[in-house]
Amino acid sequence: MKILSIESSCDETAAAVIEDGRKILSSVVATQVEEHKLYGGVVPEIASRRHCEAINGVVRETLAQAGMTFGELDALAVTYAPGLIGALLVGVNFAKGLSLATGLPLIPVHHLRSHIAANYLAHPELEPPFLCLVVSGGHSHIVEVKSYTEMKIIGKTRDDAAGEAFDKAARTMGMPYPGGIHLDKAAELGDPDSFRLPHPKVSGAEYDFSFSGLKTAVINLIHNAEQRGEALPVSDIAASFRKAVVESLTDNFMRAADDLGYHTLVLAGGVSANSLLRKKIDEKAEKSGRRCFYPPLELCGDNGAMVGAQAYYEYLSGNIADIGLNAAATMSIEL
Ligand code: KG4
Ligand code: ZN
Repeated sequence: MKILSIESSCDETAAAVIEDGRKILSSVVATQVEEHKLYGGVVPEIASRRHCEAINGVVRETLAQAGMTFGELDALAVTYAPGLIGALLVGVNFAKGLSLATGLPLIPVHHLRSHIAANYLAHPELEPPFLCLVVSGGHSHIVEVKSYTEMKIIGKTRDDAAGEAFDKAARTMGMPYPGGIHLDKAAELGDPDSFRLPHPKVSGAEYDFSFSGLKTAVINLIHNAEQRGEALPVSDIAASFRKAVVESLTDNFMRAADDLGYHTLVLAGGVSANSLLRKKIDEKAEKSGRRCFYPPLELCGDNGAMVGAQAYYEYLSGNIADIGLNAAATMSIEL
């Protein structure tokens, strides 16, 4: 089954053709990051406009790279939630128009489910059930993936998402948007034990996360140093911050895996590109005799391929949209 999938939930306009949920026939990502960089973060109105401009060309290029016409496709898929509402609406309306024009069924895909499915494209042997740490710019969840379409959230952030915390800390250190990757690189050169930062715990909810206290602590540390006119040891601060975030994520994730008896661990979302997070999960999985998977770097961030992967399984479970499909800024991964 060949699905043409469209993603426009944030600042990448992307599309792909995916075969049977596992094979990428083509994938095109048009990023807007250079423009949002000017403002230090995504400007929703600009994002919507750029999606409008890019989407037709991205879809045409995706079909061309696959060497296919609409007539050779079996279905269409689109990210419909969660995300920036104006940005999502561009993809959803474009996909509904295509569905009407071609007669192809349209499959609605939840953005975080698609981040998880990025793993199916890279790891043919991976099948649910497994425990997944979904960490992106907007979400930090520990999710029981019971089947391809049945999910249960067992832990989540009480305030900032991990990616958001990385981006805000990086911005205070003078790094360009999106800061996560720059902070990660700077951290490689620093001493992770140079600053004592809080290791946040949420009392009474042992799998939940809280990053806002940690973020405030690092911002205060930087501002205090600046006020005293001291040179900022950026790499050391980055390394200490990254260690604190990664320890919080991995401690809760491993505790949940122990308590619930999961032997397969999966990382998903933009922050799964973090080099320390990948290393720590590998180490902990190996020590405890578990299997661990994460997407290749090019599939960690937003892309159309992951949407087509999840869409295949949504289709098999009967999840087909009608012409009334709407976008939603928020929606639980449990659906
Ligand atoms: O999943 P994603 O591409 O978009 C959302 O759905 O939000 O995630 C983007 C987030 C950004 O906050 C970005 O800074 C973060 O992922 N990120 C990283 C790294 N690469 C991307 N955070 C930490 N370390 C990285 N290497
Ligand atoms: Zn995303």
